[in-house]
Amino acid sequence: MPQPRRPRGRGVWLLAGSSDARSSGYAGAVGAGDESIRVVGILGAGRVGLVLARLAVNAGYHVLVAGSGSPGRIASQVAALGPAATAAEASVVVRESDAVVLALPLPRYRDLPVEALRGMLVIDAMNYWWEVDGLRDDFADLRTSTSEIVQGFLAGSRVVKAFNHMGYRDLDDEARPAGASGRKAIAIAGDDAGDLAIVARLVDAFGFDPVVAGPLAEGIKLEPGAEAFGADVDAVELRAMLDRFPASQRGRMVARARGIRPDAPG
Ligand SMILES: NC(=O)c1ccc[n+]([C@@H]2O[C@H](COP(=O)([O-])OP(=O)(O)OC[C@H]3O[C@@H](n4cnc5c(N)ncnc54)[C@H](OP(=O)(O)O)[C@@H]3O)[C@@H](O)[C@H]2O)c1
Repeated sequence: MPQPRRPRGRGVWLLAGSSDARSSGYAGAVGAGDESIRVVGILGAGRVGLVLARLAVNAGYHVLVAGSGSPGRIASQVAALGPAATAAEASVVVRESDAVVLALPLPRYRDLPVEALRGMLVIDAMNYWWEVDGLRDDFADLRTSTSEIVQGFLAGSRVVKAFNHMGYRDLDDEARPAGASGRKAIAIAGDDAGDLAIVARLVDAFGFDPVVAGPLAEGIKLEPGAEAFGADVDAVELRAMLDRFPASQRGRMVARARGIRPDAPG
C-alpha cells in the first residue's frame, strides 16, 4: 500500500522544537499562514534574504538559510535571528524546506539546483538591477518577465513572484499583524491559483496584505521600471498602481513588445 509522503522539513522542524519556533512574533499566524509550509528555505543571505528570514521566524516558521558559501560564513548572522533559524548548505535548505525563497542576485539563477527543486514551491524575490547585475538583453526583454525566465530554467518547480518590490528596510520595518491599521501590501504573481493561495497566506503570515498581480507574465508589473517597484503602500494603493500599469509608459512599452493592444485589459 502506498505510504503518505513525509512532508519536507518535518525532521528539521521536530529537531528544532516547534514550541520554541512558535514562541515569538505573531506566532498565531502560523496556522493562518499555511499548515503545508513548516520550514521556509531561503537561498541568499544578503540584505533581503536575512530580512525575510527574520519575518519568517517572527511568523513562527522554522527557517533554513544558505548563502553562496559554507554555512559557517553566515552562521552568526543567522544565529542572531534566534533558535528557529539555521544556516545550512544550499542542498540541505532545498531538501529540508517546504518552500524556497530565492533571494540571490538574479544572474545567479543558473546556479540553482534544478533537479532538487523539482516539484517545489519556489518564491522568486529577485530583480534585474542592471547597475549591479550588468546589462543583460534577456532580463531586459519586455516580452518576458524575469520570473518567467526563472520558471523556464526551473521547469519542474512552481514559481511564484513575491517580496521583490519592497525595499529590504521597508520589509523589515513594516510587517504588521493582520488587520493592523496602516498595514502594507506585497504583490504576488504566479500561474497556479493554489500556489498563489499558499504564497498569499505566507505573505499574510509575514505581516503584509497580499495582492495578486496576475500570472507570472504579469510579474513585469512589479519589476524595476514599473510604478509598483519600490512600493511601500497599502493594498488599495498597490492595486491602483497595478491597474495603472497598462496606461503607463512602461506598460505601453510592454504591450508593444508583446503585441498586445494598448487598450486591452491587464
Ligand atoms: N535589497 C533590497 O532591498 C531588495 C528587495 C527585494 C528584492 N531584492 C532582490 O533580492 C535579490 C538579493 O538582493 P540583496 O539586496 O539581498 O543582495 P545582497 O545583499 O547582495 O545578497 C545576495 C546574497 O545572495 C548570495 N548568493 C549569491 N549567489 C548565491 C547562490 N548561488 N546561492 C545562494 N546564495 C547566493 C550572496 O552570497 P555572497 O555574499 O557570499 O556572494 C548574498 O548573501 C536581488 O535579486 C534583489 O534585486 C532586493
